[in-house]
Amino acid sequence: MVREMSPEDVLQVSHIERACFSDPWSLESIREGLETPFDTWLVLEDNEMVKGYCVFRMIAGEGELFRIALLPEYRGRGLAKKLMERLAECSKEKAVTSIFLEVRESNKIARNLYRSYGFKEECIRKNYYQNPSDNAVIMRNQLI
Ligand SMILES: CC(C)(COP(=O)(O)OP(=O)(O)OC[C@H]1O[C@@H](n2cnc3c(N)ncnc32)[C@H](O)[C@@H]1OP(=O)(O)O)[C@@H](O)C(=O)NCCC(=O)NCCS
Repeated sequence: MVREMSPEDVLQVSHIERACFSDPWSLESIREGLETPFDTWLVLEDNEMVKGYCVFRMIAGEGELFRIALLPEYRGRGLAKKLMERLAECSKEKAVTSIFLEVRESNKIARNLYRSYGFKEECIRKNYYQNPSDNAVIMRNQLI
């Protein structure tokens, strides 16, 4: 089940961050982010356990996907698609005309996921990421 994240989920989301990213967000920044009015935090819960989450922002007709992540042991089962489908629904509800994101060039799996939802590669930011160093690919889904 995909549902809105609540403050009680912060610990589990922080655990997912640490399991998935070399630059995980701190517990405090997740807690503060949850209070940002323009951001939507969604969790994917199964058997009372949070297995994945995503966070995106929608303002004035434009969206940005910041993070989407699944615990490693639950990947490859179509769970990220459930979160992406909710992102698509929210875009329609809020009449968003384009969504963009940044992704590591080396992250072929995420780039595949985004392509399958209509995102196209727009440009590259050289050496944008550290730890480890990587280029960023900017992808956009032009909905209209
Ligand atoms: C990217 C990520 C969220 C995908 O989650 P997932 O639940 O395994 O994805 P799904 O099973 O729903 O698969 C969705 C699509 O992703 C792509 N994909 C998933 N696993 C893949 C693999 N091993 N190889 C290539 N493409 C893959 C495919 O396009 C797939 O669609 P398909 O099954 O129709 O081919 C997950 O790998 C993850 O958490 N990675 C670490 C965090 C991260 O890098 N997030 C993105 C940047 S914020």
